[in-house]
Amino acid sequence: MKTKTIGLTPDQKSAGPLDRAVVFLGPPGAGKGTQAKELARTFGVPHLSSGDMLRENIAENTPLGREAKPIMERGDLVPDPLVLHMIARRLDAPDCAHGCVFDGFPRTVAQAQYLEELLKQHGYKRPVVVHFAIDPARLLRRLTGRRMCKVGGEIYNIYDHPPRVPGRCDNDGGELEQRPDDRQEIVAPRLQAYEKQTAPLVNYYRRLGRLHQVDASRDVQDVSRQVLEILRTAR
Ligand code: AP5
Repeated sequence: MKTKTIGLTPDQKSAGPLDRAVVFLGPPGAGKGTQAKELARTFGVPHLSSGDMLRENIAENTPLGREAKPIMERGDLVPDPLVLHMIARRLDAPDCAHGCVFDGFPRTVAQAQYLEELLKQHGYKRPVVVHFAIDPARLLRRLTGRRMCKVGGEIYNIYDHPPRVPGRCDNDGGELEQRPDDRQEIVAPRLQAYEKQTAPLVNYYRRLGRLHQVDASRDVQDVSRQVLEILRTAR
């Protein structure tokens, strides 16, 4: 996995215990995964990406993976019951005891309500919810330019954050690949699914007084700083 930092100061890197769940909410390509990986590393907690978990199930050809594959390939959301079961099982693992970073979950109001219950059952504080606000016009370039390492999952962008050697991960030399749903024709339905099913969560959390927002159009280091500042003050 990645060893370099993304511009955090030594103070920011020794950030103390997280001890709560953080939820990253935002459209495809907003930078949730990039920030979630780094934040999880900083605090030594798991990065719970529902998309990565589903892709692992697809790679392992599990019953869940077989059900999710055609849905993800057309850019739709996987039905709530399948996702909720997967998340509940993951949250039971002991490594989640001191907090975790949710990336891409919850994605519907029903998922958010379920998460609330689940966290209560596990004795967690309320989650810190961070909305990645960004002009949709920027997303196409981020998504179609994204490449991921097959070995460690490191995220690159052929336009804005290319690897030193084209097609190879800087950290482990792994082959870089494009996600099937990052093809231009699948990006539009994904963005539509976001607007219809996930964007309402922004108001849901705002009404609860729990929404924090970052300007996700800024560079990676700047977004990291915004996230850490939110966590510092939300404690
Ligand atoms: P998922 O894997 O969750 O994808 P997503 O939400 O569509 O988000 P992405 O991973 O595409 O984007 P990101 O915000 O993480 O951006 P990243 O950091 O990679 O979901 C995939 C599918 O799984 C869904 O369509 C659905 O079918 C299913 N699914 C998953 N969860 C589900 C759920 N809860 N319920 C139902 N279905 C579910 O960055 C993108 C690019 O931008 C990269 O190239 C990166 O290098 C670059 N970049 C990042 N930050 C910056 C920056 N600040 N400046 C410039 N470039 C940047």
